Amino acid sequence: MIGRRGLCGKFMEEELLRLQKEASNDLAALKDPKELEIFRVRYLGRKSEFTGLMRKLGQVAPEDRPRLGKLANDIKEDLDNQFNIRKQELEEAALTGKGSKVSLDLSLPGRAYPFGKLHPVTQIMEEICTIFEGMGFGVAEGPDVETDFYNFEALNIPKHHPARDMHDTFYINESLLLRTHTSPMQARIMENREPPLRMIAPGKVYRCDSDITHTPMFHQVEGFLVDRKVSFADLRGILGVFIARMFDDRTAMRARPSFFPFTEPSAEIDIACVICRGKGCRVCKQTGWLEILGAGMIDPEVFRQVGYDPEEFSGFAFGLGVERIAMLKYGINDIRLYYENDLRFLSQF
Ligand code: PHE
Repeated sequence: MIGRRGLCGKFMEEELLRLQKEASNDLAALKDPKELEIFRVRYLGRKSEFTGLMRKLGQVAPEDRPRLGKLANDIKEDLDNQFNIRKQELEEAALTGKGSKVSLDLSLPGRAYPFGKLHPVTQIMEEICTIFEGMGFGVAEGPDVETDFYNFEALNIPKHHPARDMHDTFYINESLLLRTHTSPMQARIMENREPPLRMIAPGKVYRCDSDITHTPMFHQVEGFLVDRKVSFADLRGILGVFIARMFDDRTAMRARPSFFPFTEPSAEIDIACVICRGKGCRVCKQTGWLEILGAGMIDPEVFRQVGYDPEEFSGFAFGLGVERIAMLKYGINDIRLYYENDLRFLSQF
């Protein structure tokens, strides 16, 4: 092919066009952006066949050179263009997954994740605290692992006192136990502060007891108020407001005489049955009343223990069971449902 007048122009032209066609086909067959570089090196790089042909341009007859030079430049430009377009196509396809098995639709809405909710007992506990905070009560929390002293002695329940039997205590050792009620917070707060005091203390309490109305761990909210000239009427007044806000203002309440070593007189407070409104039903065992809390005037002995003068100060205290109130409010008949963590139950509140 190298004739008298150098490299044959015709041959050069055919080679260039063949290369253009071959490159163009190869480019269309690429499937992965990673193959682009191999293509580029092979057809457009410094050591490519094409570059080789360009170098040989000097060897063709001078009259063919301008035409073939232009053709070679046009082909190079065309392949560069084709390469860039194909490159963009392949990269987009890799992003959107088009052409692959998984396809990604960027216009789809995001996946909705279910919201968690507060446990019904936590909700009621917060509601109780909010109501008392609205009446000027402060909130304090204390330890679940309590000393025998605060749980019993400071509350006028000395060792071997029969009232200890009511509590089914979990002991940790001689002097440590899981608190059986939130009342130790009365002593803890009073010994550090001077009256007037208005406090509530929500928290977990523990008793070795388990059936449809008892779980070994449950929640109480303790409340107490100490000042000069506090009377049982004040207790009734405050609890009346609480019951009206927690249930509704048609809910009747009554106090029944009771006994706690740390209050005198003591009472158990009932509300008219929220189910039958006092007519008598299965929930209130036909009595028309439901017990919701224990309360009373703080015993002078408790004041002496914390260094208050019982002649000068008086006060009331009450302790309410949170699970019990939640059961009444939501009409739940088995307390154990709260702690089985069945989402079908929990998600209703
Ligand atoms: N601590 C008592 C209990 O758990 C309730 C109570 C609190 C009674 C405060 C009177 C005063 O049963």
